Amino acid sequence: MSARRPIYLDNHATTRTDPRVVEAMLPYFTEVYGNAASISHRFGREAAEAVDHAREQIALAIGADAREIVFTSGATESNNLAIKGAAQAAAKRGNHIVTASTEHRAVLDPVRRMAREGWEITVLDSDEHGRISAEAVAGALTDRTVLVSIMAANNEVGTLNPITEIGRLCHDRGVLFHTDAAQAVGKIPIDVHRDGVDLLSLSAHKFYGPKGIGALYVRRRDPQVRLQPMLDGGGHERGFRSGTLAVPLIVAMGTAVELAVGAMDEESSRIRALRDRLHAAIAAQVPGIRLNGHPTDRLAGNLNLSFSDVDGEALMMAMRDVAVSSGSACSAADPEPSHVLRAIGLDDDLARSSLRFGLGRFTTEEEVDLAAEAVATAVDRLRGQAVAWSPLSG
Ligand SMILES: Cc1ncc(COP(=O)(O)O)c(C=O)c1O
Repeated sequence: MSARRPIYLDNHATTRTDPRVVEAMLPYFTEVYGNAASISHRFGREAAEAVDHAREQIALAIGADAREIVFTSGATESNNLAIKGAAQAAAKRGNHIVTASTEHRAVLDPVRRMAREGWEITVLDSDEHGRISAEAVAGALTDRTVLVSIMAANNEVGTLNPITEIGRLCHDRGVLFHTDAAQAVGKIPIDVHRDGVDLLSLSAHKFYGPKGIGALYVRRRDPQVRLQPMLDGGGHERGFRSGTLAVPLIVAMGTAVELAVGAMDEESSRIRALRDRLHAAIAAQVPGIRLNGHPTDRLAGNLNLSFSDVDGEALMMAMRDVAVSSGSACSAADPEPSHVLRAIGLDDDLARSSLRFGLGRFTTEEEVDLAAEAVATAVDRLRGQAVAWSPLSG
């Protein structure tokens, strides 16, 4: 099997760009290559039309208006703009932000910086499945709270948060609600009006689009959200985000979101069935596993398992033909056990013994079966070695 490419089960880290998406974007490099802000001629006007169309596609996917979409480089930038930008614009009204310990570092690190700058931050604990309840959010709000930031779906354990309830609560209390929906868009239905969302972060490479392009939804009315821009310059994107628009990437993002939302129901049932097959096949062969994340309310493609008495890194190394992640791939350079697994109550050893399998659009049944075999063989081998080497075994 080693001559073959490894089996890709790391779709939370990133997804393969769908060939249909690549095809849609290509003409915007070499044929329609104008600057979308330079509309005194046809090159620019065509580019601007393509951007307008993509903006409509993205808005439609989340129940927004096209004028509410601000293009960015990805969810990291969107989160920074949403959190720092909204808080700074609301600084006269308050100084308190509420978020959760299970958030991605692209939320936690901006709020940590704001804490150093004097903001008051409440970081809520999740339950043992990684879920943040609306009651917990309600209990944290004060009359100085200006922003709540709670993710729609967790990138490590896949758990879905009750964002509709949290959004309604925030609206009732006059507090802005931001959600990092990087893992959710195209996977679960999102409607910014139903969900009471004021700011929502998206990233194209999580839904089979290219890396380096994302967007922030910024509500225009009831309430109109004000943001302090992070970048000053040409005043693009209604002044929220200056910089020449990446037209080919924007076209790709629009195509990718339309494909993902159009296929969502069918695709998520297929992926969920494959995920359950993988789980069952591993469980049948490997004793001593534990499922992390919510047993049912989680992303269809997510399977996060702890393997007792096995080191996750060693396990990954032992199954080189399967590409998975131990902890969050976004901070894979960080040797610390995953902050999310710790937040849901795993001790360091169990957190270190965990693997995240992320199934996606291109995952096949054959791959799932091969992956389960590879996991079972590798765990067997490592556990055998652990017994042989253990100082307690003699
Ligand atoms: C929940 C979540 N937020 C933010 C990000 C960062 O996204 P980007 O790579 O587009 O900056 C990721 C990527 O892993 C993510 O999973």
